[in-house]
Amino acid sequence: MPEDDATASPTAEIVCQAVGRVFGTRRALEDITTTIEAGDLAAIVGSSGCGKTVLLHHMIGLHQPDEGRVLARDHGDPAEPLVDLAACDLDGLERLRLHWSVVFQRNALFTGTVEENISLWLREHTAMTDEQIRRRVRDSVIAATLDPDDVLRKQRDSLSGGMAKRVAIARAIATDPVVMFYDEPTTGLDPVVSARIHDLVFEIHHSPRADRRRRTTIIVTHDRDLLRRIRPRIIMLDAGRLVFDGAYEAFIASDLPVARQYLEQMPVLNARQPQ
Ligand SMILES: Nc1ncnc2c1ncn2[C@@H]1O[C@H](COP(=O)(O)OP(=O)(O)OP(=O)(O)O)[C@@H](O)[C@H]1O
Ligand SMILES: [Mg+2]
Repeated sequence: MPEDDATASPTAEIVCQAVGRVFGTRRALEDITTTIEAGDLAAIVGSSGCGKTVLLHHMIGLHQPDEGRVLARDHGDPAEPLVDLAACDLDGLERLRLHWSVVFQRNALFTGTVEENISLWLREHTAMTDEQIRRRVRDSVIAATLDPDDVLRKQRDSLSGGMAKRVAIARAIATDPVVMFYDEPTTGLDPVVSARIHDLVFEIHHSPRADRRRRTTIIVTHDRDLLRRIRPRIIMLDAGRLVFDGAYEAFIASDLPVARQYLEQMPVLNARQPQ
């Protein structure tokens, strides 16, 4: 572990240290310092364009910060040190990502069938048999409230927005990840399906892993009902700055003007369509 990580918590999963990011003349993130601990269930909230997706993309190494750094726990290393994502080569990032799943805001399904989208990772990265993969794919699809007999053979481009979102969730949970990242998993879903996804997020987070590692969940959302269901730690951004980092109960009771205004707007934000 690098020397200056001595202050990092021994159970840290993702550490953002003074992370800053500028796109052209626009500052997307400024001085973000926060540590996601193993076992955390954390939500990144804030109004549209405040930097939630950009922060999530820094946490998974898709973006590199202009200032500061992001460290992540390497579950592929027995000593499990925290590694600086900017210092990782592609192999290093691949190894980290073996233990992560991401539900992207725009789903990021590849061209092909639903079955192919969900099974590819399992074929490439596990020793599971075809039958085990088939079962895992079906179970994941059912958990994401889809009918496997209806969707598995469908092509990506024939899915509705809500179906594609659920396929992205099914694909993410199929890999039994240590760390789950979701970017707006319920935007565009009807209330009944949303409620099922709320339960699923909660159940996956708390479901025990065979290796006893605690699961960590980081979720970007505008969904007030989801927050109420899972009562996560809240990380609130405002114009790229971290303005609140604490328990859900403290957040909803907060008299921080920016938090109050956001909470009042949430039903409207939640009604937005997916991009
Ligand atoms: N690749 C990029 N190039 C230039 N600007 C970008 C890029 N990605 C994001 N931005 C800008 O960074 C800011 C934060 O964007 P981000 O996507 O993180 O917002 P968000 O909080 O996720 O919003 P939403 O709730 O609408 O998804 C925005 O001003 C956006 O236009
Ligand atoms: Mg976003």
